[in-house]
Amino acid sequence: MKPSPQKVMGIETSCDECSVSIVASEPHKVSVLSVATFSQIQLHQPYGGVVPEIASRNHLETMIPMLEEAITQAELAPHEIDAIAVTNRPGLVGSLLVGVSAAKAFAYALGKPLIPVHHLEGHAVSVFLDRDEEADPVLFPSILAIVSGGHTQLYQIQDYPRHWPEHSLEKALLGRSRDDAAGEAFDKTAKLMGFPYPGGQWIDQTARKAPPGAHQAFPLPRALPQSSTYDFSFSGLKTAVSLLVQKLKSENRLESELPALCASVQEAIVDALIRKLALAVKNTRARSVCFVGGVAANSRLRERLASDVGVPAYFPEMKYCTDNAAMIAAVGAYRLEQGRVLSMNDMLKLNAWATGALQS
Ligand code: KG4
Ligand code: ZN
Repeated sequence: MKPSPQKVMGIETSCDECSVSIVASEPHKVSVLSVATFSQIQLHQPYGGVVPEIASRNHLETMIPMLEEAITQAELAPHEIDAIAVTNRPGLVGSLLVGVSAAKAFAYALGKPLIPVHHLEGHAVSVFLDRDEEADPVLFPSILAIVSGGHTQLYQIQDYPRHWPEHSLEKALLGRSRDDAAGEAFDKTAKLMGFPYPGGQWIDQTARKAPPGAHQAFPLPRALPQSSTYDFSFSGLKTAVSLLVQKLKSENRLESELPALCASVQEAIVDALIRKLALAVKNTRARSVCFVGGVAANSRLRERLASDVGVPAYFPEMKYCTDNAAMIAAVGAYRLEQGRVLSMNDMLKLNAWATGALQS
């Protein structure tokens, strides 16, 4: 008889999304059974960024409703869940603590194993959610780009995450941003142009209204163009956009030039990402690119990845690009399969960390 798939619950509260999900782990696929997410974006919008105290208090209010919704959607009884995975690092420590406490309570009450997950590892596996590894195989080795509001990292991966040994992702790092993350560059430049937080999607949408060729209208800096590093730097772009916005405002042209300015800013960020990805593909002879994180939703990036990198690019479904608990549950499913769960003693001692090394 075919063994029934292991069911893993994931909990994600590292920033401004309170998310709970249940996945089913089969030999060649992790299927998402449910995802319940409450996004706090509107609560933070008046402040132009995430306010940690508001975030953690709101997680406290939404945690139990999200848990209940995820279990109901998956049509399971709590005791049918085989393990609980929770993001315990990195992130806003007060927010993380809400998820970690809920996960501990749930695991302890049901006597199920607990699995702590690094948020970035969650993003890393998001591209494999609901993907049948046999029917729709990914070409390896692959360059994995994790590009979000908090991170811009390139890794070289050799296989599906179910085969990743401990610490493998940590060792696979090729390059990272030395200052702002690419998503942060989108958000900060969008704020300078007067868009609400988070600004990435506004820049994307407004740039689409620009005439063809407008992405070259405003020359903006591309840092670290040399081929000796896979690192990125976006802080100079912010300064250049700030000066440009001041100039356009003083000439009363900001509103009319906004689509062209958005197209130019977007091009500068996308260009930097594509350039390093293409370099990494060439040097490592990678057969594909996996692009994950909030910035993977960017339409220009998807266009340029399809035309300028020379190998197939894989993305998570749109709903798994931004923070969600399905990706955390998937890491939990791979760990459970490998027997890498916490003992009862370690489970009770589990803490949350604002920073933290990647361990995969
Ligand atoms: O992965 P994510 O939800 O959260 C973090 O872990 O940071 O990523 C959020 C980031 C924000 O910076 C947001 O502006 C950016 O992803 N983002 C986009 C787009 N949609 C979201 N950036 C550019 N174009 C988009 N369409
Ligand atoms: Zn994230």
